[in-house]
Formats: sequence, C-alpha cells, structure tokens
Amino acid sequence: MIAETFAGVALTGTGSAVPDMVITNDDLTQVVQTSDEWIKSRTGIGARRLLRNEESLTSLAVRAGKQALSSAGLAATNIDLILLATSTADDRFGNAGRIQHELGAKWAVAFDLTAACSGFVFGLVTAAQFIRTGTYRNILLIGADVLSRWVDWSDRRTCVLFGDGAGAIVIQAHHEDRLLGFELRSDGSGHHHLNIACPSLQRQLTNDINVGQGTITPITMNGQEVYKFAVRSVPEVIDKALYRSGVSANELDWLLLHQANQRILDAVALRLGVPSEKVISNLENYGNTSAASIGLALDEWVRQGHIQPDHLIAASGFGAGLSWGAVVFRWGT
Ligand code: UT7
Repeated sequence: MIAETFAGVALTGTGSAVPDMVITNDDLTQVVQTSDEWIKSRTGIGARRLLRNEESLTSLAVRAGKQALSSAGLAATNIDLILLATSTADDRFGNAGRIQHELGAKWAVAFDLTAACSGFVFGLVTAAQFIRTGTYRNILLIGADVLSRWVDWSDRRTCVLFGDGAGAIVIQAHHEDRLLGFELRSDGSGHHHLNIACPSLQRQLTNDINVGQGTITPITMNGQEVYKFAVRSVPEVIDKALYRSGVSANELDWLLLHQANQRILDAVALRLGVPSEKVISNLENYGNTSAASIGLALDEWVRQGHIQPDHLIAASGFGAGLSWGAVVFRWGT
C-alpha cells in the first residue's frame, strides 16, 4: 500500500522556556536613570527574565523544544527539520545543530534563520513550504533570543525593553490545510533603525594585506521610527494575510503580535477593530523577547486553555531588517 502524503499544514504542539532570574522595573532604577512609572506607561512592561552567565541560548531552546514535542506527542526522532529563529546564537556559525544533538533529533536537518523579531513568523512560513512540497512531515520551530547579552546596560532607551526566552511550535503535515494565509515583507532602507552591528576593525596582516577583524556592538534603536513603522505596517500586513486567508478580522479569536510594546498592540488592534480581550499580551512579565515572543505567548495561551482547537489566530512579527509579516492559522488538528 502506498502511504498517503498530506500537504496541508497543522500546528500541533507548543512549548516555552524562560530563565528563572527576574529583573523588575524597580531593579532597573539601580542600573539606569528610569522609573517604574515611565516604563509601565510607555511600554506596559513590568519585569523581564534574564539568562545567567552560566546558561546558554541552547539550553533555553532545548527546554522549549522538548515541551513542544511532548505536547504534540512526538519523539525527537520523528522530527525531520529543526528551524531556530534567533539573532543571538551561542555560535555565529549557527545554533540549530547543537539543539538537534541535545534534543536527540538524529534524523532532523537543522539550521538557523535570522529575521530578528519577525523570525518566528518567517520560520513558521518557511516550515509550511517544506510541508506543502511534501518534503518533510514533522518540523520543530524554536524562536529563542538572549538579547540581555547584547544590550548596552547604560542605555535606558533600550535596556529596559528586552528580556530572554524561547518559544517553540510543532508543525505537521495534515490532510486539511490549517495555515490559511500569510504575507511577509522586508524594507532594508530602514535597516539602520535597529541594529546589533558587526563593524570590523582594520588589521594589518602583512605590509600589503590588511583585513577586517570582526566585532559586535550592543543594540541601537531609533525607538520612535520603529514605533511608527510598526503601527503603520503591521495592520496592513495582517489585513493582507487575512485577505489571502479568506477571513476577516472580526472572525479572529486571537490577535497574537510580537510583544514589543503594549501601546503598539493596542494601536494595531484598534486599527483592525479587534477588541482588547482578543489581544494576547504577556509582555508585562517578559518584556520584548524578540524571536521568542510569539511562541512564548502562544504557549502560555494554549497551556492556560484560552486557545482551543479550531480557534482562528492572526500572528504578526515585526522588527529589525526592517522585516514584518503575518500568518493566519487555525489552532490544532
Ligand atoms: O522588537 C522590535 C520592535 N521594537 C519596537 O517595536 C520598539 C518601538 N518603540 C517603542 O516601543 C518606543 O519608541 C519606546 C518604548 C522605545 C520609547 O517610547 P517613546 O514614547 O517613543 O519615548 P521616546 O524615545 O520619545 O523618549 C521620550 C523621553 C525622552 O526624554 P526627552 O528627550 O523627552 O527629555 C527619553 O530620553 O523619555 C526618555 N526616556 C526614558 N526616561 C526614563 C527614554 N527611555 C527612558 C527610560 N526611562 N527608560
């Protein structure tokens, strides 16, 4: 008998992991000139989790990945592909291979994907393409970032915003296509608004040969420009993804945005006409966890029973690149 091959896409399991060390807004007043009042009113953030020096992005990502596999009822050896969305890998050659090894996913091919805070949505859409072509059946996507290692702890405009974490999702071939539509965008003309830049320093090797020696600088962000970009572009890209999905915003059960700033979440929801009780938000506890934030929030909402099978969800990531995108899916099988 020939095995049936399914080219539809279903999202079947979630997981997440955060470090246990908490830093509150009040704690941050010991680090930079700021206040709980400023941070809360401008961002909605109350606390964030920070990775200890002895820990690694790999350990966070592996914890999230294990949870997602167990919630989907899959063994690591069933996984065909592991995608790691991150901008803060432990190794610039990539982190996904190490995660594959630590998970024991010996048959999986694994690679990193960098699209900053859009990484989870870009990863989800990438995974769907491998399934739709019939190439792979079981994919683990992990979004993980440790931006605490790359902020300038003397820059109050950025260091109060970010936290560390990992979120994971299992994507499987299914007889019905549950990923209804998507839209992805890039605009490199705005790349300078948000960076972890890697400038090189001149190094003279011989009299005739000089090369660049790589360095990394902490995060720099033009907050106001990124804010304007997000509030303008995110509703547009979600609208496009909804249109491609053949559904409208008022049919959504949940709006799941990259957890950058509560004011951005509110403004986008208002433009789309989505009521606030349908807007998933956990940034008060975790801050902006970059590529992890959508997976982390999805996992919390699934585990707490808010998201139920068949619920219609629009997820949107946005950030450095500039990059942004949206995907519309029905939860579960
Ligand atoms: O994940 C990628 C996507 N990233 C984003 O979506 C971030 C988008 N941007 C934002 O969320 C907001 O622009 C911020 C939260 C980053 C900043 O909020 P804002 O309302 O745009 O503040 P601002 O940059 O206009 O700064 C207002 C004032 C300034 O003082 P002056 O120049 O008016 O005297 C800042 O120096 O607030 C000051 N300020 C602070 N004060 C206390 C900036 N950071 C702080 C701080 N504590 N932490």
